[in-house]
Amino acid sequence: MPAEQYGDLLQQIDMTSLPAHIAVIMDGNGRWAAARGLPRSAGHKAGAEAMRAVTEICRELGIQTLTVYAFSTENWKRSADEVGFLMKLFVEYLSKEVDLMNEQDIRLGFLGKREGLPAHVLTAFDRALDSTANNKSMQLNLAINYGGRDELTRAVRSIAAQVQAGAIQTAQIDTNLLAANLDTAGQPDPDLLIRPSGELRISNFLLWQLAYSEFWYSDKLWPDFGKRDLLTAVIDFQHRSRRFGGA
Ligand code: FPP
Repeated sequence: MPAEQYGDLLQQIDMTSLPAHIAVIMDGNGRWAAARGLPRSAGHKAGAEAMRAVTEICRELGIQTLTVYAFSTENWKRSADEVGFLMKLFVEYLSKEVDLMNEQDIRLGFLGKREGLPAHVLTAFDRALDSTANNKSMQLNLAINYGGRDELTRAVRSIAAQVQAGAIQTAQIDTNLLAANLDTAGQPDPDLLIRPSGELRISNFLLWQLAYSEFWYSDKLWPDFGKRDLLTAVIDFQHRSRRFGGA
């Protein structure tokens, strides 16, 4: 496939007002595969390629944080075959991509619940997290076994334990403390949420962090999503007026 040209779009971007954090719901892999008479696994494989392209363009632009939703706490309902394939794909990606992440100074992050993930996936994750921990150019968060409600529940549980241990008083619980107990602790909230595949829902993604994010939807299925689409979303974002509840 010839390299995608995008210089014209790059020129339209105001480099002084980039979104600090872009979050993406990578949806439509199954439909992409079905439309080609291929198994769903082929859609996920193609989805991983799209993810690479989007990571590359975000890194080139200078986006500080990119978060991609790869597997939700609800995705366990899929067939054992599909779940098994996705887990294998994650391990493959984590082991193969680490060198490239280090070359590009990308730091990996994990959002989600460790409990329930197979040991070999956690081992691959921990290795990649460790190996990229000191990289500084971009943070790439993979949300795997992630659910916004689960994340909030884990945060509340952790805060309750801190109160019980006498480390904090109930009166000290505020929005900052809650945010500090989420998987995204210390990271900026997403400025922009991208959802391809024509679906218009949040699907339990970053429920707390998306409070003031700008949404951008596309009818394209995720495997068809490219660098031009990402740049188009950023250009559109830069024309929005964000008031954060103010006048
Ligand atoms: C949603 O599309 C997609 C997923 C549940 C999996 C996302 C995974 C990838 C893009 C693979 C690459 C990820 C990594 C971390 C290497 P769907 O299957 O629900 O599509 P459908 O709605 O058309 O059925």
